[in-house]
Amino acid sequence: MPTSQPRRWPVALVRVLALITLLQVLLQAALAGGFISGHVGYLTAHSVNGSLLVLTVMALGVATILLFRPGRGPWWPILLSAVLWWMVAVQVGVGFARLVGLHIPLGASILALTGAFAWWSFSYRPRPVTA
Ligand code: HEM
Repeated sequence: MPTSQPRRWPVALVRVLALITLLQVLLQAALAGGFISGHVGYLTAHSVNGSLLVLTVMALGVATILLFRPGRGPWWPILLSAVLWWMVAVQVGVGFARLVGLHIPLGASILALTGAFAWWSFSYRPRPVTA
């Protein structure tokens, strides 16, 4: 049966956005470390980066839709990015509500999920499409 190569750009887009998301989450932990150590100004940067993260994960969601079609990739990254978006939105709310006991474990969970997804995106190889 004849096969054709799937488009490469959707997976490249997912990789770029997964990497930016991971870097932003790591930056959140570093900024949190900064203001816990007494540098109050870092809290503003943590707040701004947290709000920008909501937008980055939204863009990641769009990229996972494009990976599915036209990229012919798996569907589950769409669900994963929707769950991640919801977690980040809750995290912003929990941060402003100062519920630190919930905010730190949720932050660690977001970091674990983001790291695992970035790793997957770089190890994923699009399969040839059967015509
Ligand atoms: C993962 C994504 C994260 C997001 C979106 C996020 C977002 C936020 C936001 C919006 C605030 C409120 C800022 C303000 O009051 O102006 C906040 C506060 C805070 N965040 Fe995060 N954060 C994240 C991760 C983390 C992590 C990993 C840690 C610690 C390891 C952390 C520790 C804190 C602390 C200690 C506060 C201050 C709470 C207080 O004022 O009592 N955050 N965060």
